[in-house]
Amino acid sequence: MIPLSMPDLSGNEAAYLQECIQSTYVSSVGPFVYRFERMVATAAGAPHAVATSSGTSGLHVALVAAGVQPGDLVIVPSLTFIASANAVSYCGAQPWLMDIDPKTWNLDPVLLEEILAEECQWCDDRLIRKATNQRVAAIMPVHILGTPADMDAIVPLARRYGLPVVADGAAALGSSYRGRKVGDLGADLTVFSFNGNKTVTCGGGGAVVGCEERLQRIRHLSTTARLGDAYDHDMIGFNYRLTNIQAAVGCAQLERLDQFVQKKQTIRAYYREAFASLATVGPFPNPDDSQSAAWFSGIVLPNTASASAEELKNYLRQQGIDARPFWKPLHLQKPYRHAPATRQTVSEGVWDRIMVLPCSTTITDLELDHAVASVRRGCQQMAVS
Ligand SMILES: Cc1ncc(COP(=O)(O)O)c(C=O)c1O
Repeated sequence: MIPLSMPDLSGNEAAYLQECIQSTYVSSVGPFVYRFERMVATAAGAPHAVATSSGTSGLHVALVAAGVQPGDLVIVPSLTFIASANAVSYCGAQPWLMDIDPKTWNLDPVLLEEILAEECQWCDDRLIRKATNQRVAAIMPVHILGTPADMDAIVPLARRYGLPVVADGAAALGSSYRGRKVGDLGADLTVFSFNGNKTVTCGGGGAVVGCEERLQRIRHLSTTARLGDAYDHDMIGFNYRLTNIQAAVGCAQLERLDQFVQKKQTIRAYYREAFASLATVGPFPNPDDSQSAAWFSGIVLPNTASASAEELKNYLRQQGIDARPFWKPLHLQKPYRHAPATRQTVSEGVWDRIMVLPCSTTITDLELDHAVASVRRGCQQMAVS
């Protein structure tokens, strides 16, 4: 089976792990953690970073630091991994699920502007969603698949309404938008994931980037809100720090971030060109103003093809190709079925036509050719094209 996305651990990972074990620094204090934080901040174009135990915990603590409270609403695009919304729920808040822009599959800024103007109002210095009288506390754009959201439209809107922006950049390290790196796009905080299927991995892990003032609070909150060396805690914090062992793997991975991202971008371009002649099969979004980190790649099947998508996936698996469906929008998921959601024409129209194809950084040209030829044959057989 040609896997969907496998890590490449052939750099300094083993040596750094060995160093960790010999030093006995295996927990959340250790030189690799600090080195990892510096490397993430540099790669993201941000002043500082705090390493966390996962992307989800990073999102949670970032929302807490941004002031999200029980009963609040946080604006989140519906087409995202469920962890984006779960982090909101962990705060006792609710996601307000928005539709996506068809050009990027990211939060639609035009819709955002419309709902802030029409469905919200000010009430004693608080921005309230009129329908439910809940405070709107933050906006969480997601840089889906490593492609930055339209931040030059979203951030000024957030500023106009006094809303903090906590960006979910889980898969976006290495991407840029209008010449700026993803951690330098105006969000108050941007969160990355380093789980096993990300372009660079720690096995599991995350990081939050932003200005030092906010990060100090995040560092404090994610270290059980402990004061100094004594067991003195000034609030209910979290045990959310990354371990030195995970950071050791992460440092070795980050040494090759540019190489990995370049390979991911080559794979995405390869699929785009290879399928350009199939009239009804579309590419993943490729907005002019951003350089996607191209975390995952694949194709978009034509309208009315959701049954064929399942058939094609099964056919590809028989050919030894690990093709997968993509995220089901959150407003269609059981835990978020009753969350407030604006019109979802785009997310509902596209999600079950997206097929993710093998895109490991270790994939060979031969494997890519086999994947392309199999998709072409499969599409012909299923009359998809
Ligand atoms: C968009 C998005 N947000 C959040 C997460 C959560 O990250 P983690 O698995 O590190 O908790 C992921 C992980 O896949 C993701 O893709």
